[in-house]
Amino acid sequence: MSYQQYNPYTPAPDRYNKMIYRRSGRSGLKLPIISLGLWHNFGDITTFGVQQKILRAAFDNGITHFDLANNYGPPAGEAERNFGEHLKRDWRPYRDELVISTKAGFGMWRGPYGDHGSRKYLIASLDQSLRRMNLEYVDIFYHHRPDDETPIEETMGALYDIVKSGKALYAGISNYNPEQTKRAIRCMKEMGMHMLIHQPNYNMFNRSIENGLTDVVAEEGVGIMAFAPLAGGRLTGRYLNGIPEDSRASHDPRFLRASDISEELLKTVRALNAVAERRGQTLAQLALVWTLRDPVVTSALIGASKPEQVVENVKALENMTLTEEELNEIDTILANR
Ligand SMILES: NC(=O)c1ccc[n+]([C@@H]2O[C@H](COP(=O)([O-])OP(=O)(O)OC[C@H]3O[C@@H](n4cnc5c(N)ncnc54)[C@H](OP(=O)(O)O)[C@@H]3O)[C@@H](O)[C@H]2O)c1
Repeated sequence: MSYQQYNPYTPAPDRYNKMIYRRSGRSGLKLPIISLGLWHNFGDITTFGVQQKILRAAFDNGITHFDLANNYGPPAGEAERNFGEHLKRDWRPYRDELVISTKAGFGMWRGPYGDHGSRKYLIASLDQSLRRMNLEYVDIFYHHRPDDETPIEETMGALYDIVKSGKALYAGISNYNPEQTKRAIRCMKEMGMHMLIHQPNYNMFNRSIENGLTDVVAEEGVGIMAFAPLAGGRLTGRYLNGIPEDSRASHDPRFLRASDISEELLKTVRALNAVAERRGQTLAQLALVWTLRDPVVTSALIGASKPEQVVENVKALENMTLTEEELNEIDTILANR
C-alpha cells in the first residue's frame, strides 16, 4: 500500500448532532446506532485515499465506532495495518472519541495456535493486532466464532484476562448461538465480568437472531452489534439495474458472487425498494431503520466502498419510525421470497 501525501484533517464540529447513541445492554458504553466495519475495502485492493475518505465521512457524521478483526484484508492483517496508518495520520488527537474493536477466532496463521478459541491463540492474536494498529489497547475484543472443542472457561478466561490486563476495555462474542451465548455470558459473570456485546449477522434476509438470541441478550443485559445489515449490498439500490463494475459482487466475489444476484432476489429487492420510496427513503436507509427497530439492537454495523454511501446511510436517522402497516408489508414481502 502506498500512502498518499499528508492531507490534514479537521473533523466536522457538528458531528455529534448527526448521530444517535444507544447504550450497549446494561453497560456504561454508548455506541453510535450506525457503526463502520473494515472487513471489505480496507485491504490492499482499495487505495489509501478512498479508505481515508470513508473513515473521515464516518466520523464527520458521528460514527465513533470502527470494527476490525485480525483477518480483515486482503491479505489478512492488512486492514489493521492500514487502520494503524490512518490512526497515525488522522485520529491521534481523537483516540478517546473512538471505540475500536478487533477479533480473533478464524484461521490467522499456520499451525495449531492460529485458529479457534484457545487462550494461546486469543492472547497472541490480540498482541499482533495491537502491534499492527500501533495501539496500546482496543475498546472491544471479540471471540469471533464459537469453538466447541475448547472449554468455554478457557476462551472466556482469556477474554477476562485480556480485559484485566488493559489490552481491551470490554469483551464480546460473535456468531454464538443462543445456548453458546448463555453459557459464555454466565461464565464471564461467574468471574465477575459483564459481557458487553454480541456480534451476530442480522438483516431482512437473515432473521435467525429473532429465534432465541435476542431474548438471551435482552435478559442478560448484553448489546447487539448487528453485522451486515445491508446483506453485503443486496439490501440497497446497488443491483437494481444490473451489476455495476465497482460493486462487491463484481470485483470482490469472495462472499457475494454475481450469480447471487438472481431475478428472484431482485423481485424481493424491488418490492422492498417500493416501500422505501413511499417513505421517501432509499432501500439502504429502510434496511437500517428495520434492523434498528428493536432497541435490543445497539448498532447496525455497515460496510462502505464510498464516502457517499456512509453519508446516505446516516441520513436513515431522519425517519426512524416504521408503521405497523409498513412492518406487515415487509414481513409479507420477506415471507413470499
Ligand atoms: N463477526 C463476523 O463474523 C462478521 C462477518 C461479516 C461482517 N462483519 C462486520 O460487519 C461489517 C459490515 O459487513 P458488510 O460490509 O458485509 O455490511 P453491509 O453493510 O451489509 O454491506 C456493505 C456493502 O453494501 C454496499 N452499500 C453500503 N451502503 C450503500 C448504499 N447507501 N447504497 C448502495 N450500496 C451500499 C457497499 O457495497 P459495494 O462494495 O458494492 O459498494 C458496501 O460495501 C464488516 O466490515 C465487519 O466489520 C462481521
